[in-house]
Amino acid sequence: MERPDNRSYRLRGARATPAQEAAYAALWEKYGINPSGVLNLTSYFPDSKRIIMEIGTGMGEASAGIISADPDTGFLAIEVHKPGIGALMNLANKNGSTNLRIIEEDAHLVLQHWIADNSVDAIHLFFPDPWPKTKHKKRRIVQDPFLQLIAPKIKAGGYIHIATDWVEYASWISEVFKASTLFHGGEIERPVFRPISKFEGQGLRKGHTVTDFRFFKS
Ligand SMILES: C[S@@+](CC[C@H](N)C(=O)[O-])C[C@H]1O[C@@H](n2cnc3c(N)ncnc32)[C@H](O)[C@@H]1O
Repeated sequence: MERPDNRSYRLRGARATPAQEAAYAALWEKYGINPSGVLNLTSYFPDSKRIIMEIGTGMGEASAGIISADPDTGFLAIEVHKPGIGALMNLANKNGSTNLRIIEEDAHLVLQHWIADNSVDAIHLFFPDPWPKTKHKKRRIVQDPFLQLIAPKIKAGGYIHIATDWVEYASWISEVFKASTLFHGGEIERPVFRPISKFEGQGLRKGHTVTDFRFFKS
């Protein structure tokens, strides 16, 4: 599966000042990965008890909180939005976090080319873009080919945790997973470990209902 024509993210302009560019470059040395082949993830997280991949860290405020509260876990963040990556690196650096690495690329390509089978304990997918219009539903990241892509990468007993504030996307997620033999599981209570991100906060203020799911690899 190559980078889909129907990208699951919006292309957003990002103009950075020279100072921001310099700060970004300095922190990229510390947190960034520029893969050239299949990665040995444990080499990036030698002291971690488990490795969690987070797809779509946005502006990073929830992710930075989770990462700093769980220093025994190595977090691999996948994001395409450069300013968001910069914000996450700044927060992680301020928190003194060393258990974070970041790849700046479409998660589909990352999974396809650089992640070894049975190498991550879990995947976090928090508030993926809901693409509410009918003509855009093919851009939703949760689709059967995505499940086929992630299942081999997750270790036995591992899972994907998804949260959405879009009720119709929650039904879609249920249906896609129900139709697949690769995972089992379903809705769970909101976990205490997940802080409210700016994105989730906006949804809550609009009266949206948040649904959390955990699907285990079968
Ligand atoms: C709606 S935002 C939510 C961000 C964050 N998880 C939160 O709760 O605030 C979705 C994020 O996923 C990223 N994203 C969407 N599709 C992606 C993909 N295929 N690969 C990497 N990042 C992606 C977008 O750039 C965006 O920052």
